[in-house]
Amino acid sequence: MTTLIDGKAFAADLRAAVGSQVAALIAGPGVTPGLAVVLVGEDPASQVYVRNKHRQTLEAGMNSFEHRLPADSSQQTLLDLVAELNADDAVDGILVQLPLPAQINAQAVLDAIDPAKDVDGFHVVNAGRLATGGDALVPCTPLGCLLLLRHFVGELSGLRAVIVGRSNIVGKPMAQLLLAENCTTTIAHSRTRDLAAECRQADILIAAVGRPEMIRGDWIKPGATVIDVGINRIDAADRGTGKSRLVGDVAFAEAAPIAAAITPVPGGVGPMTIACLLRNTVTAACRRRDLPVPAAAL
Ligand code: GUN
Repeated sequence: MTTLIDGKAFAADLRAAVGSQVAALIAGPGVTPGLAVVLVGEDPASQVYVRNKHRQTLEAGMNSFEHRLPADSSQQTLLDLVAELNADDAVDGILVQLPLPAQINAQAVLDAIDPAKDVDGFHVVNAGRLATGGDALVPCTPLGCLLLLRHFVGELSGLRAVIVGRSNIVGKPMAQLLLAENCTTTIAHSRTRDLAAECRQADILIAAVGRPEMIRGDWIKPGATVIDVGINRIDAADRGTGKSRLVGDVAFAEAAPIAAAITPVPGGVGPMTIACLLRNTVTAACRRRDLPVPAAAL
């Protein structure tokens, strides 16, 4: 029987554990962690993410600070806001929602965030620490995938992992995390020769390409664990049914009977991202004050 990896339930448990850690920080040293989220423009998907972050941050007992800027904001305006948040002691985590409008150099803004408050883990200092085994803040989506793998697979050492996708947000940090778990780790991408054959080697297959159902059932090694990071909306017009639908990067119906365990879309990796963001905010709040970081509950 294939295990369906229920990220929604796992993320709810993680948020509850983070909530307990926050309660202990408030009751003990009197620290209420605070997360600032910056949204530039009105991208509909980003607005949904930001709303969910705000609600879940408050539910975990933390302070949530939202900053909305118009789509035509200059890079300097954004840099000034980041400088203000860096200097604000009530702010432990800063997240600038991506994508940013074209007039803004996203990496310049991300690198202006104090690395100690970089709860997205996108600052070059945190990327470097992750690559060299230091105390990084780790990007939330790959961290969520790792927590699911540790829970549903157990020991990862020696397993062959293939990551399809080489983004700075998912593919590259995911590879660093799996390497640190002693996986034999391959990053495959759009120029990989015989991608299907690479995927068939994988005990752990991570799909993070953003192409709907690109990874087919016969690319899966029997007994593999499949983590699907893709969230692709198939428009109602393309389906001819009047309803749009979310699908992953993996052809789920084909892959599920072959895999030992697989994440669904929606309800797999997606809910883990915000839960890990909350966990990173607690980590940042503790490290900034030289308090012990609570042991990972999950
Ligand atoms: N846009 C989509 N996912 C993310 C994320 O994890 N962090 C940020 N900052 N923006 C995003």
